[in-house]
Order: sequence, then C-alpha cells, then structure tokens
Amino acid sequence: MTNNNHPASSTPLHQPPHTPSAPPRPRTLIVHYTPRGEQSNTRALALHFKECAKGHVAILDLEHTQLPFLNAPILAAYTKAAYTAQPLTEDEETLVAPLKKHVEEVLAADIVVLAFPMWNFGAPAAVKAWLDHVLWKGKTWDFAPGGGYLGLVKGKKGVILCTTGGSYDAPPMNKYDHATAHTRDVLQFMGLSVQIVMAQGLNQFPQEATARIEKAKSEIAALVHKLGV
Ligand SMILES: Cc1cc2nc3c(=O)[nH]c(=O)nc-3n(C[C@H](O)[C@H](O)[C@H](O)COP(=O)(O)O)c2cc1C
Repeated sequence: MTNNNHPASSTPLHQPPHTPSAPPRPRTLIVHYTPRGEQSNTRALALHFKECAKGHVAILDLEHTQLPFLNAPILAAYTKAAYTAQPLTEDEETLVAPLKKHVEEVLAADIVVLAFPMWNFGAPAAVKAWLDHVLWKGKTWDFAPGGGYLGLVKGKKGVILCTTGGSYDAPPMNKYDHATAHTRDVLQFMGLSVQIVMAQGLNQFPQEATARIEKAKSEIAALVHKLGV
C-alpha cells in the first residue's frame, strides 16, 4: 500500500471535509503484516478495504513498524504500570511507550482491521507482537468484579482479513485454522464484535486464486458499506 509506511497515529490517509449535515463516519485503523509487498494477496485485500472506505483511515504497517517481543524489562515495566499504583521511572515509561501508543490507536478507532496471511497455521509473529502490545489490563480488558473478564473496547468493530494457501472450511483441516480463530478470540476478548473475510486455498487451487481474491474483495466492499466506513 503506497503512502502507508508510517505509524498509524501520524497517517490520516484521507480526511473528508466536515459537513455539519453528514453524520461522522467511523474512524478505521488498518493493521497489516504483508511482507511480500506488492506481491501480497493479503495486502490487496487490505488495500481494497482502504479504497472502499470514505472516512478516516489510519494504517499501521507491521513490516515497517517492527514491534519488540515482550522481554523481561518491558514485562516488568508493563506489570508495574498495569497492576500497581506505583509511578514508573523514566526508563520504565520509555519501555511501555510503544505499548501505550498502540493501545491508544486501538481506543481511538471505531473499526480495527487486522490483515495478515496464515503462516504455519497461525498469524505471523509480528501480528502476535501487536496483540501483545494492545492487550493492556485496565485499558483494553480487565477483570470483572464478580469473576471473569471485561472487554473495554466496547461498541467497536473488528475485521480480520486473512489469506491462506490451503483450505480450512471443512474437516479435517478446519481445526488447524488458529490464525483467524486466535485473532478473532483476542479481539472479542477486548470487546470488539468481529467479522472475518478470508481468501482460502490460493496455493492449493492456483487456477481459482484470482476468482477467490475477487470474491473476498466483493465481501469487503459489502462489509465496508454495512459498517458505514
Ligand atoms: C512462512 C509461510 C508459512 C505459511 N504457512 C501456511 C499455512 O500454515 N497454511 C496455509 O494454508 N498457507 C500457508 N502459507 C501460504 C500463505 O498463507 C498464502 O500463500 C497467503 O496467501 C500468502 O499471503 P500474502 O500473499 O499476503 O503473502 C504460508 C506461507 C508462508 C510464506
């Protein structure tokens, strides 16, 4: 996606002029990990979502913005911030700053689109790293007073765009799709209601790949219309 190689918070791709009569369109955050660039089937789907949308769209390209894994110092700072009332040191603030930034991007959006290819039956590690950044106790989820959990990202929509080489729509392979299952569950855990658009079997049925991507694009156009994006 051209013009998208910037952190989400600084990338208003297009901001329509405000007209008092028109209700504001939802703000969309597209988070994608599509390292094959122009060759990427998944990027074509994410780009299609962006092109169909008329409202404000921000992009987070996880290939360009590489997020660290949660190592011991980051974990210690995050735990102190999320689970105690103690003030953080300057160093600790620096360590949790990327987590806070990505949490704020999610909280600022009405619709969060997560686009990635299936890798080894799951989401690529870069997507997991992003999830590990945004699942912040007290900001995106919390313990419920009576037990269980509360999603704090309420009233927002999640959209998962995923492409796969094989097919996962029937047994025995359906149980191997941990890519959409895990990301869906995590977004739902945070309180988002989630829709999934997949283009499957792109390597298994190469002669049908173009048609399958086009079908996914039609589903995306319909979804964008339904969401009022
Ligand atoms: C490292 C790697 C692992 C993959 N693992 C799987 C997999 O477990 N299941 C599958 O169906 N396809 C797998 N694929 C195929 C991709 O999911 C498929 O080609 C996808 O459309 C690629 O998306 P892209 O064009 O956006 O890169 C894998 C591809 C790569 C590069």
